[in-house]
Amino acid sequence: MNTKQTTILVGLIFLLIAVVAGITLNQPYQFHGFIVPPVQHDNHVFLRTQEGPMNLTKYHDKFVLLYFGYTYCPDVCPTSLAKLKTALAELSEAERNKVQVIFISVDPDRDTPEKLNEYAKLFGLDFIGATGTRTEIDLVTESLGVKYKINPPDENGNYSVDHSAYTYVIDPNGYLVMVWSHEILAEEIAEDLTHLIETGIPVNQQLLAGPTPTSVICSLTLIPEFVNNGQGLYEHNCAQCHGIDLGGIPGWRTPLADGSNLAPPLGISSVIWQKTEAELIEVIKDGKNLNKPIHMPAFENTLSDEEIYSILQYIYSKWSINQKNYYAGSLTQTPMPPPAFTSTPTP
Ligand code: HEC
Repeated sequence: MNTKQTTILVGLIFLLIAVVAGITLNQPYQFHGFIVPPVQHDNHVFLRTQEGPMNLTKYHDKFVLLYFGYTYCPDVCPTSLAKLKTALAELSEAERNKVQVIFISVDPDRDTPEKLNEYAKLFGLDFIGATGTRTEIDLVTESLGVKYKINPPDENGNYSVDHSAYTYVIDPNGYLVMVWSHEILAEEIAEDLTHLIETGIPVNQQLLAGPTPTSVICSLTLIPEFVNNGQGLYEHNCAQCHGIDLGGIPGWRTPLADGSNLAPPLGISSVIWQKTEAELIEVIKDGKNLNKPIHMPAFENTLSDEEIYSILQYIYSKWSINQKNYYAGSLTQTPMPPPAFTSTPTP
């Protein structure tokens, strides 16, 4: 092999390493828990602890791990709590400070706040034991989808309680975002927690988890006049390519031979909600692939800023609540302000 061949070979090897490294780095972390669509539940319900009334809003800057059970629970509760203890021991102190375990008893007749405190502390000195009246407990369990059933007592008055054996993960914004099954291992919990604390659940994974049942978190401002006006403008200027239902042209995912694309959907199945509003405005104003037969035309000279904004408002109005939330930044806590118009509206 001459020097030139060696250089090429070395170059190829480096390229291969870079590609492999790139692929590994881009792999999204696979959580062991089940990601659920962000479920808002009643954070404001007060539960009773030895220290007095407590509600979850108190822990809004932490990941709260909720486990529902009862202290007479023969095996599942102790194993689950012990597992949480082991998992937390694997975290750094800073990470541990971002997590709060709360054991909620669904058996308030036998579990007093004092008894629960003692029980929870067996597993972790900062674990909290809480319970409430039946109504208080049910407000929490129903909003999280936790099931339990108090079984009839035997002749000695002893009874068992069937209950969901999941651990419910509430994120620092107060949303249920993940559940861990009873079978999960302590090290898997630790791994999930580290990722949750570092990066949270990537929004695209949350979106795949399905529609969120609550609409309250959306902070994308839709102004009815703009949406209305936008619909007319959309139908006149965009619908012939992007579809009256915003569905795009079938096959839009596959690039054409010349590198251009068919008109993509702008509605639910689109990817444009991952672009910033500024990027969308830019593509609408400047067009794309103008020199190719299939292209996105430039609307700079035909539509005013306000008209473009109205069309975008109409497009947003067709998105799912999760897409709106994402766009509005609710899931990242950075709400998007409405733009300031530079041009005067056309009548
Ligand atoms: C003549 C057909 C046509 C018309 C009319 C049209 N578009 Fe497009 N549009 C396209 C095509 C084709 C693309 C894909 C360009 C590419 O990626 O190669 C596109 C892309 C886009 C994109 C970028 C999507 C992305 O993910 O990059 C947006 C946003 C968009 N169009 C909005 C609009 C709006 C709003 C209107 C009406 C004001 C409109 N388009 C009118 C054909 C059209």
